[in-house]
Order: sequence, then C-alpha cells, then structure tokens
Amino acid sequence: MGVMVTGNVTRLVGFDDIGETFISDGRVLRGIYPGKADGVRRVLHTCIAHDLFKVGIIATRELEKNPHAELGYEMTLEHARVPFVTFPNEWPASMLLAAAKFHLRLFQRLGTQGLTLKDWHPYNILFDGTEPVFVDFTSIIPADELPKQGYLAGAKAPAGFGGWDEYSVALYRMYQLTYEPYFGLPLAMMEQGRHAEARERLTATALNATDSGMLRGEVFTGRKAARARYELNDLRLKMALREHGPNKRRFFDLLGKRLDAMQVAVKGSAYSSYYADKEEAFASEPSIDWTNKQNVVHDALVRFSPATVLDIGSNTGWFSLLAAKLGSNVVGVDLDEACIDSLFEAARRERLPVLPLVANLMAPPPDIFAKTFPDEPSLSRIGREKPLYPSPEKRLACEMVMALAIVHHLALGQGHSFERIAGTLSDLATRYLCVEFVQRDDKMILDDPGFFPAMTKSPGSFDWYHVDGFVAALRKHFSEIEVLSSHPSTRLMLLCTKG
Ligand SMILES: C[S@@+](CC[C@H](N)C(=O)[O-])C[C@H]1O[C@@H](n2cnc3c(N)ncnc32)[C@H](O)[C@@H]1O
Repeated sequence: MGVMVTGNVTRLVGFDDIGETFISDGRVLRGIYPGKADGVRRVLHTCIAHDLFKVGIIATRELEKNPHAELGYEMTLEHARVPFVTFPNEWPASMLLAAAKFHLRLFQRLGTQGLTLKDWHPYNILFDGTEPVFVDFTSIIPADELPKQGYLAGAKAPAGFGGWDEYSVALYRMYQLTYEPYFGLPLAMMEQGRHAEARERLTATALNATDSGMLRGEVFTGRKAARARYELNDLRLKMALREHGPNKRRFFDLLGKRLDAMQVAVKGSAYSSYYADKEEAFASEPSIDWTNKQNVVHDALVRFSPATVLDIGSNTGWFSLLAAKLGSNVVGVDLDEACIDSLFEAARRERLPVLPLVANLMAPPPDIFAKTFPDEPSLSRIGREKPLYPSPEKRLACEMVMALAIVHHLALGQGHSFERIAGTLSDLATRYLCVEFVQRDDKMILDDPGFFPAMTKSPGSFDWYHVDGFVAALRKHFSEIEVLSSHPSTRLMLLCTKG
C-alpha cells in the first residue's frame, strides 16, 4: 500500500528493488530505498568522474533534500526529462537497431570502469529526437554484482561450456531473458520483412506483461537456413564467453559485428515516394515553387512558433523536417514502416529534433498491466498500478498538431467519424491544430477508391463527409477556426486554436 503523498506525484512504471521513479511537479525524480544509497552513490560518482553521461546516460544528480520526506527514501535523484516517452513497438526498425547498438556500446563503455547493466532490453531507453538515452540509472551496477541478481539466480552454463565463469553464466542468462526477446529476435523478424508481426509481438509481450517474451521458435519456424545461421552465431557468442573476468570484450565485439551487418529497414512502399510522385519534393527553404499548402503550413509554424509539433500521418516527413528546421521539437507518426524509417535516417543525417514513430494514434493498444510475480513483491512507496503503455495523449501531446492530407484516410478509408477524429486531434493538441480537409471532389478520392475501403464498401453512407460537418466537430474543442485554401483547390487548411 502507498503512503499519503503530498504534492503532485505520478509514479512511473518500473520494477526495481533499488528505487522507483516518479514525476513530481514536472520533474523526474527517483527515490532510493533504504539500504541502497551507498551503492547508487558510488555508481553516480563513477559516472561523474569519467564523464559517462556523454555516452547517453540520462543526466542525473543527487538532491540535497528529498522533496517527499513522507516517502522515506534514503536518497533522491533527479534525472533530466526526456520530452516524449515512447516504446520499442513504436520505433521504426532502424531505430530499434540503433537502440540495440547503443545498449551494446554502453556495456562496453561501462565495462572500462568496472560497471555493467543488470538488464538488457529497450524499455530502459528513450529517444530524444533520434538520439537514444539510457534512462534507467539504477540498472547500472558494479560488474561483480551481476551474478548476484535474483532473476539470474540458478542459471547454469550450457552443455559443453562448463568452463564459463560466473559472469559469463549471468551475462548469457540475461542475454536470453532480456536481449533476445526484446532486441535480437524482433530484429531478426524484421530482417525477414515481418515488421508488423514483430511490432504486434513486442506490444503483446511488453516487459513484465507476460511470462515469456518472443521465442526463437516463432521467428524461425519453417526457415531452416535462417535458424541454422542464428544458431551458429549463438555458438560463436557462447565460445566468446570462454573469456574470463567480468569484461566480456570478445562477446560484445562479436555481437556488435552481427548488429552492424543487419539490414532491417523496409526499403520502399506504395507511400515512400509520395513527395517525388507529386513533384513536391522541394527543398525546405521557402521558394516560388512551393504550393499554397507549403506556404500556409510554413506561415502557421512561423506565426504560432510551437515548441512542440506532432505530425500525424507524416509520411516521409517533409512537414516534420520543416517544423524542426523552424525550431520546433517534432514527433512524426505514420503507419507506413518505410516512410518512418526514411524519416529517422533523414532526421539523424540532418541532426534535427524529430522523433519518428510507427503508430496508429486512432487505435492505440488496449491497456496492458504488469504481471505481479510472487517472488518480486512491489517495494513501491507510492503504489497505484499503471498501464504499461500510457495513452498517446499522456505521452505525445504537443503544442501544435499537424494532420495534413490524412482526415480523408481516417474517415473514408478507416471509417472513423468526425467526432472521433476531432476528439483525438484535440486530445493531442494543447493549443493549435493545423488540419487539412480533402473534399469529396478531390482527384485522389475520385481516382483511387482503393485507398478508401470504408467508402468503397458502403458508398452511400458517407454523405456526412463535408467540411461543414468537420468544422462543427472541431468547434466543440477549438474556439477559433480559420479556413484557408490548400493545394490543389479541392483541399482546405483549417487553422484551429484553443481558447
Ligand atoms: C496522403 S499522405 C499525407 C502525408 C503528409 N501528411 C502530407 O500532407 O504531405 C497520408 C499519410 O497518412 C498515413 N496514414 C494513414 N492513416 C494513418 C493512421 N491511422 N495513422 C497514422 N498514419 C496514417 C499514410 O501512411 C500516409 O503516409
């Protein structure tokens, strides 16, 4: 049971016998349970002395005074706040691969200071734009404590590897329990082109949601050659673990090479040449070639200067990149794997603050709660069970939402009502919404009915699809709505502001 907490405190999901994280008045704090402070302080001092924050560990400091004395922590840390919380099931394949490489480099760098990590999965990583950040500070432990971790207890060396030391036994067990189900196997599935399936399995088997994460069998069933290659690689990794001592340099080098050789991105899709096909792959400097649409969106971004922008249906991110160049911190979301992967590469190349996600914000996954394991009782002082995936509006809401050339897909394609669309857009926009409305006489709707299955299935039942109805639905959430022209002339741009 939690104690009475003063002030505005929200517990974050976490499973740790060292401490717990929570938001207190907008700051991310971590309370350390009694008896654990000395160890955490030692790790913190090593990180400070050797500048380990530079390699992507979340900036962390110890607070002199615990603002929540009633919670009885022995020590309180403050972490920098990463703007948006996202999960591996939302990252494009290249981003999951980048996270895996980052995690591996972290092991290697921590190893040089006698430290390691007590688990090995992507839920300890968030992305700030395209940069991975390791956020679970208390997962960093002295290397000699790894074999003592409760969940690794009882692990044994595999047959034929009886000479392994206790570090190899613990590391390989951690690899099997956390790296394989959440990094290695989903990436192997994506390498086979099964991105949607990998994403579904990652969603359903979120860390602590199930007894078992992804298994080798489901990735390689019917794929004998791929399985043989995987097992051979596994054998090589096991051989590398014959190296003695806590620093498993050969193992990490070998795994790093495997990750470097992986090709996981979806290279092209029906949507990935959208701007080239429309002959609108313009440079992002204002130009006389720009259409009304580019000009109107550019002017709205300059006029409202939103700190954060959520671009829903971003495609390859022409407008996301524009918003980032104009100074906003941007989240670009699309259903299309290839588009979002190419946005990740573009934003990374141009060093722009764009966080690209593969997700359908109209249909987020249902709430999943962590299982409680009898041998791991919750030590939380705050209590209150939370879903593992907080809803999109709690994590991704931005000062401005852009929803360009997507409402017709949501309504005529996916069958959502104007009320539902306007409500979702409003939940995600704290102040402004820049939304394009494609009218029924638009060439795209007339010429490509295949894109609009809901309408094709029941053509007579979409008479309500008219801009007046959409504006009426938006009025319930936004006090001001400006209607401007877009491009071509069958499209309108609605600039909506909350009161
Ligand atoms: C016509 S394109 C518009 C691209 C961009 N917003 C623009 O105006 O230039 C529509 C995009 O919306 C995406 N999309 C359709 N339904 C979606 C949904 N429910 N969630 C996220 N993206 C979606 C498609 O994959 C596609 O990339």
